[in-house]
Amino acid sequence: MSRETTRLPHLRLGKHTPRYPLIQGGMGVKISGPRLAGAVARAGGVGTIASVGLACDSPHYNGRNYFEANVLALKEALAEARATAPEGVIAVNCMAALTDYDDHVRAACEGGADVIISGAGLPLRLPELTQDFPDVALVPIVSSLKAAQLIIRRWQKSYDRRPDGIVVETPLHAGGHLGVTRAEQVTDPAFSLEAIVPEIVAYLSQEGWEETIPVISAGGIWTREDMEAQFALGARGVQLGTIFACTEECDASPRFKQAYIDAKAEDVVIIKSPVGIPGRALKTPFIARYLEGDVKSSPCIANCLAHCSYRKDRQSFCIAQALIDAFKGDWERGLYFCGDNVARCDRIRTVDDIFDDFFKNRKENL
Ligand SMILES: Cc1cc2nc3c(=O)[nH]c(=O)nc-3n(C[C@H](O)[C@H](O)[C@H](O)COP(=O)(O)O)c2cc1C
Repeated sequence: MSRETTRLPHLRLGKHTPRYPLIQGGMGVKISGPRLAGAVARAGGVGTIASVGLACDSPHYNGRNYFEANVLALKEALAEARATAPEGVIAVNCMAALTDYDDHVRAACEGGADVIISGAGLPLRLPELTQDFPDVALVPIVSSLKAAQLIIRRWQKSYDRRPDGIVVETPLHAGGHLGVTRAEQVTDPAFSLEAIVPEIVAYLSQEGWEETIPVISAGGIWTREDMEAQFALGARGVQLGTIFACTEECDASPRFKQAYIDAKAEDVVIIKSPVGIPGRALKTPFIARYLEGDVKSSPCIANCLAHCSYRKDRQSFCIAQALIDAFKGDWERGLYFCGDNVARCDRIRTVDDIFDDFFKNRKENL
């Protein structure tokens, strides 16, 4: 497919249409905070703040008020991103696995988010939590047709509402938590974008919803050509994570970004996360010990997960603390989530650089 012939789809998410069909995926803890999300929204994509753990370096957090401080930090982060991109499309990524998920969703709406993107569990009650904010677009993340159908049917039956878009994320390449239950499924081609995206697109068009529920592909997209390949499968947008974690505007510490630059393919591992599902991450000294069965960890910070194997039987580690350590650049103790494209990071880029590369110096969709 040549660069000259491909016309870009318009990605409409409810009432919001970014100039470019590209979403920067939510990355917790505070890898995608207000700075990155604001820069992406200003560049013409959807900039996403990950709501999880945002308060970790906020003056509101005093070591005991993790949940309350997070709500305040999320609203402040939204105001900061909005100041950078007054006309841009700003999303919040809320993980359904969080104990205080409902508070994250409400704070996102009250803080002025345009879109809520929600995965890490099935966001079955999302329309109920956002009912006072009908302009907020709702976008679940799934990794199978079955999950997409379950969410759509439940939302229709209980709330007379359908999603405004669906992110399909493949476990084959993506960073962070992977939407499968067992490690062996991570490499199973049955879960590839090539298998799942056309299936979901076919289902949506058979129901007559292909215009109102765009499919957005996530996982392993690094170039314009990768993006075009997803459009050829029927996707109308793409979501990228790893490429944006190594930008100047990314909210993480310089040490976090350096770890991405240093990473080689063999440094990327699959771990069983305390959430109970596989995750893709760098083999830091801490993760190397964990893989060998050493489960010594800092104490649980705040019961942040509805189901946590560390809180239950101490067979893992405090994931909130390990992600905060990574955000701060502690190589010894951090959990550095990453997609397998991390090995292709060779420098810190800017968000504008990435948009120029993807959209012909941004002369498209003007
Ligand atoms: C450091 C990091 C943290 C992430 N954290 C989250 C998260 O909090 N919630 C979520 O839904 N996805 C999370 N993801 C997944 C991304 O939003 C995105 O969908 C994924 O990284 C796309 O694949 P790619 O990294 O190959 O581009 C994370 C990814 C990375 C790299």
